[in-house]
Amino acid sequence: MATKKLRNLPLFDDQADDPASDRLLHLNCQMLVDELSNLMESSSLSDIFASIYKMRTNTKHYETAVTDLSDGFVQMRYSFFVDALDQIVASQSIERAKYYMKRLVKSLTEERTTPINDINLNRWKEYDDIITDSLWLIERRDSSGVHMADYWGNFIPQIPNQMMRRFTKRGEWVLDAFAGSGTTLIEGSGWGAIPSASSYSLP
Ligand SMILES: C[S@@+](CC[C@H](N)C(=O)[O-])C[C@H]1O[C@@H](n2cnc3c(N)ncnc32)[C@H](O)[C@@H]1O
Repeated sequence: MATKKLRNLPLFDDQADDPASDRLLHLNCQMLVDELSNLMESSSLSDIFASIYKMRTNTKHYETAVTDLSDGFVQMRYSFFVDALDQIVASQSIERAKYYMKRLVKSLTEERTTPINDINLNRWKEYDDIITDSLWLIERRDSSGVHMADYWGNFIPQIPNQMMRRFTKRGEWVLDAFAGSGTTLIEGSGWGAIPSASSYSLP
């Protein structure tokens, strides 16, 4: 199939995708990695596009009923998976297509973290709940769980939440020396940090 024709296929017609289908896919990692690795050997951009298009339109084929994490499956949200495939097909050169395929394989098979947090840099796009802009625009304070609004001097819970997710690893200690009503403690226990607080009120 000619490259030009392939680009005219409704690859980016997201109306075809039911938004409710943005579910967590349980993907057969080995099957995907094998197919992508074979494609990376190809010297034909149109063959690559055709195969990726097929993959994109038949994601069910790569889903597995296996749920044991050690058993070679990987979880990925549908929208991120198809975005990664769309990016390959939008490549203008075979080198670029291979680069994106290699990146997809890495995101399926390797975890890359730094000493400061548990964010997997090979899947950074999927952390859409972590604010990476320098200006944090938080529309509404989180009032879920045990947070109470009757103490006026407290944090918006999202602030300690974002800080801990970005600057701690699970199981690490977090000390809030000005604990007040304990927003950091509440958020930390939900996130997996071990919060510790120290605070006093002047008589
Ligand atoms: C603005 S509140 C912090 C609110 C907290 N972030 C929350 O979300 O509930 C400041 C807290 O620091 C405490 N505090 C003030 N000066 C302090 C000091 N010198 N040492 C320890 N705690 C202090 C106050 O008693 C108060 O509980």
